[in-house]
Amino acid sequence: MNIESQVQLKPFNTLSLDSIASHFIKVQSVQALQEALLFAETNELNVLLLSGGSNMMLPEQIQALVIAMDIQGIEFLNEDEHSQTLKVGAGQNWHDFVLWTTVQQLYGLQNLALIPGLVGASPVQNIGAYGVEVGEFIQSVEVFDRKLNQVTSILASDCHFTYRHSIFKDDPNRYVITHVIFKLLKFPDLKINYGDLKTAMGDELTAENLQKQVIHIRQSKLPDPKQYPNVGSFFKNPIINQTEFSQLIAKFPNIPHYPQTGNQVKIAAGWLIDQAGWKGKRLDQVGMFEKQALVLVNYANATLTDVQATYHAVQKDVFDTFGVRLEPEPVLFNEFGLIQNH
Ligand code: EPU
Repeated sequence: MNIESQVQLKPFNTLSLDSIASHFIKVQSVQALQEALLFAETNELNVLLLSGGSNMMLPEQIQALVIAMDIQGIEFLNEDEHSQTLKVGAGQNWHDFVLWTTVQQLYGLQNLALIPGLVGASPVQNIGAYGVEVGEFIQSVEVFDRKLNQVTSILASDCHFTYRHSIFKDDPNRYVITHVIFKLLKFPDLKINYGDLKTAMGDELTAENLQKQVIHIRQSKLPDPKQYPNVGSFFKNPIINQTEFSQLIAKFPNIPHYPQTGNQVKIAAGWLIDQAGWKGKRLDQVGMFEKQALVLVNYANATLTDVQATYHAVQKDVFDTFGVRLEPEPVLFNEFGLIQNH
């Protein structure tokens, strides 16, 4: 087992925060994962599981064992007339996997092209874009259950997938996702009703073109983390109840909103931030992107403290203007590798 010490995590998190891990290991198999977990237990270290690093905020020092998930592989499982199931390693790059499914003429994930990160993280916050959430195409998730100390499989219906949420968020230290079992379609069922997607598609109503247009729209709005370190949408779109919404829309008739089940309404965080004057605005080296106010960018060598100063200021201005509290999307860790409340 190759445990490294004092490892710089800057290249492993897309916000490019300076962060030194006291202990670090890359795991490429379930067995290696189990050995690493045992090492952590023996040495009384917390475990911080690192996937693509595209949804996390890390402090400058972490006293914990950071386990970088690197289980690869795609395996064909069962098929029927309409669908094909696939078992995919948690360490597989998400976007490359989506592109691969399209080449294989397997459909469903095309709307989710270009989302950063790895396959294993996709069920955690039930990644979603352009009218599709990954949970719709997951059959089950294979995990190492740290509570029961065994490998097990969780059916999608037991994962409780909702907007940017699943059981993996409720109980973050219990499960380590090792593989995801997808059930993809053999014939496309195009979801093109979101925003400007239909117009962008033109007459070419194919899954290949859908994927191409999603990539094009994302590239035109969202900054490339290699150039502008970021974690995608920094805030969730707030979901509020009908009473709160009625008061808000009376004052701000243009607020983009999307009705939800249970008499609730989702409102666009990007619009709130933009209206509060933060689009393209910076506080020192951290700011909200000029083409999409929902994305926070580390423009130089920011630390977690700098990031917090900016996002707290954005939260305050949005709250003072609209009375709505924005909740950050990325997970915040403390110096012992544990998840913190924002
Ligand atoms: N808006 C503004 N100003 C801005 C940004 C947005 O006025 O600076 C307005 C837009 O005009 C639009 C509304 O806000 O009316 C919503 O914006 P957009 O369509 O860009 O989508 P979003 O709600 O901001 C969500 C997801 C994205 C996903 C897109 C497409 C969340 C928090 N974000 O963004 O997810 O790609 O829809 O489906 O749900 C991510 O999670 O990292 C992510 C990029």
